[in-house]
Amino acid sequence: MEKHRSSPDQVTATRSPGRRTYLMCRPAYYAVEYAINPWMDTTAPVDAALACAQWEELADIYTALGHEVLRLEPEPGLPDMVYAANGAFVVDGIAYGASFRHPERRPEADAHEKWYRTSGWTFAEPEHINEGEGDFTYLPGRELVLAGWGFRTDARAHAEAADVFGRQVVSLRLVDPRYYHLDTALAPLDDHNIAYYPGAFAPGSRLLLERLFPDAVIADAEDAAGFGLNFVSDGRNVVINAEAEAMARKVDAAGYTPVPVDLSELKKGGGSVKCCTAELRR
Ligand code: ARG
Repeated sequence: MEKHRSSPDQVTATRSPGRRTYLMCRPAYYAVEYAINPWMDTTAPVDAALACAQWEELADIYTALGHEVLRLEPEPGLPDMVYAANGAFVVDGIAYGASFRHPERRPEADAHEKWYRTSGWTFAEPEHINEGEGDFTYLPGRELVLAGWGFRTDARAHAEAADVFGRQVVSLRLVDPRYYHLDTALAPLDDHNIAYYPGAFAPGSRLLLERLFPDAVIADAEDAAGFGLNFVSDGRNVVINAEAEAMARKVDAAGYTPVPVDLSELKKGGGSVKCCTAELRR
């Protein structure tokens, strides 16, 4: 098949990493106290101190890459709060608030709302269940929001997001319980292109992804299981879970620079790099 080629100008535009702003929440009260996804095993030991050390390394990597890291104050009794990506979805300075599926995580939404409201962002109250950037992502070069549903986010929240942001939202149905959030199965590589694991999506959604992203980097089952799709890219550097070695090679072969970070403790809660990182787009 003839592959679409980008013009040289486009390549420069997609590969120049602007300074990103990330919101993160230190895993001070991290634990696996309940199981709301297949990765969580309440009987397996969790090393909270190691989780904090791994998390600090992730924050240091972002800073070293020239990005801004803002910190949300962790709260006792909210062991999943480290997965800051789930607290809202932010585009154009507007934070569309989260409304969690499971009661265990519901109070996290209030902490995020308070932070956005007091930090100068416009806050849009959600009517429908949605787990923020866990199930939403944005491709600025295509003015396109990609959104997942099937496990956590209610598909009605996709229409709500279209209304909040005035942008087209592409609904994608997730079918594998291990990849319960969109960000466990798909991630933007730059402003235009993505990487994804087709096995996580319903047939119609797969077709849609093939049509929209003929040049996507395709991950396999092993890449996905190592949380190799749960990466954060600034358009050039791809910060990726160290376990996903083969995925890092694919990213490298596609012309990006993989930056591995070991987040083994955070994987026990069912998350990795992206889950710990909310991108704040002004
Ligand atoms: N234990 C959390 C949950 O199941 C993990 C969330 C991971 N976050 C993410 N953005 N995928 O809700």
